[in-house]
Amino acid sequence: MDTLQTILSRRSIGDWAKKNVPDKIISQILGVGRHSPSPLNSQPWHFIVVKNKKTIKALMKYAHHGVSLSHANTIIVVTVERKAETDQWLFEHEQFLCSGACALYNMWLASYELGLGSCWVTLDELKTEEILSIPSRQKVVGSLATGYPKEGAHKEVPRKELFEITSYEKYGKKKDDVNGKMSKSSNILEFMEKDHDRLDEVFDEFRNMRSTDITKARPLFHDFKIGLQRHIVWEEEILFPIFENKTGMHDTGPSVVMRMEHRKIKDFLEKIHDSIARGENKVEGLENDLVEVLTEHNNKEENILYPWIDNETSEQERNEAFTKMENLPAEKYNKCCE
Ligand SMILES: Cc1cc2nc3c(=O)[nH]c(=O)nc-3n(C[C@H](O)[C@H](O)[C@H](O)COP(=O)(O)O)c2cc1C
Repeated sequence: MDTLQTILSRRSIGDWAKKNVPDKIISQILGVGRHSPSPLNSQPWHFIVVKNKKTIKALMKYAHHGVSLSHANTIIVVTVERKAETDQWLFEHEQFLCSGACALYNMWLASYELGLGSCWVTLDELKTEEILSIPSRQKVVGSLATGYPKEGAHKEVPRKELFEITSYEKYGKKKDDVNGKMSKSSNILEFMEKDHDRLDEVFDEFRNMRSTDITKARPLFHDFKIGLQRHIVWEEEILFPIFENKTGMHDTGPSVVMRMEHRKIKDFLEKIHDSIARGENKVEGLENDLVEVLTEHNNKEENILYPWIDNETSEQERNEAFTKMENLPAEKYNKCCE
């Protein structure tokens, strides 16, 4: 598995089969934790492997979000040395905690690569110290609950869009402010055509991956689905109303036809989503149907509707539309697994 795919397809798993995880696998996971980065190579971590069912239950009982994970096969509790051997400055910056988080996350990735399903569980510090006799010089970071996943345990969860969580040069400064705004796209056709091409590429990437590894393919489909949903909301809530107001074509005309086709497209998206969420790989027929509808749909938009909108609008109106598209709240389109 390549690193990027491992990171992109890892998920929190809390639905485990009744199958023991061999000690050899746990040792491999711990070995990966050992290789994590830490300031001045201080390696402040300590790992406590818990297999005793009663102890696991006790730990989970006090974890606010851990009760449903009490049936984990193994829990690896990560603690860090409060006075790790760093300098005073690093100590004051509490970097020992970050080291523990790196180790825990690396072990999470390793467990996934080794065929397990895991979840980070936040433990109650005081109760955990008591139950596991942890000395006061150690601080509890968290734990990794792991086991062999049940079929279908792997669920996609929505992610914020990059533009929502990224600034450039200064906090809050968006890339477009630095390198030319999205609103500087000269016209709707050019902008929307680029988005069609980008989505086509993501979908192709998904299809190529899906034929060999459904788990790795899931995040690609997720990106495609959210991207296409955003594209549709841009059209239905921003671009089509402009067209309909300009031309008076509210009940008939190209935007009405496009809205109907969107329903079909969304239906295919959900069907493919549900199949791959169940781990089914036989979605080629649905994919072909979607490609057929999308190709025709995009052609109509690129050849008729977008140029028409460009003709009907001034540069200022198009810029206003781009600004609205840019600021579209993510909750309008970032929907999955509902
Ligand atoms: C620091 C941290 C603490 C977490 N604590 C818990 C927890 O106590 N219980 C739980 O079920 N999941 C916990 N999680 C898992 C998150 O809920 C999960 O990572 C998030 O919902 C995203 O889902 P994903 O891991 O499938 O991508 C934690 C994750 C992190 C990074």
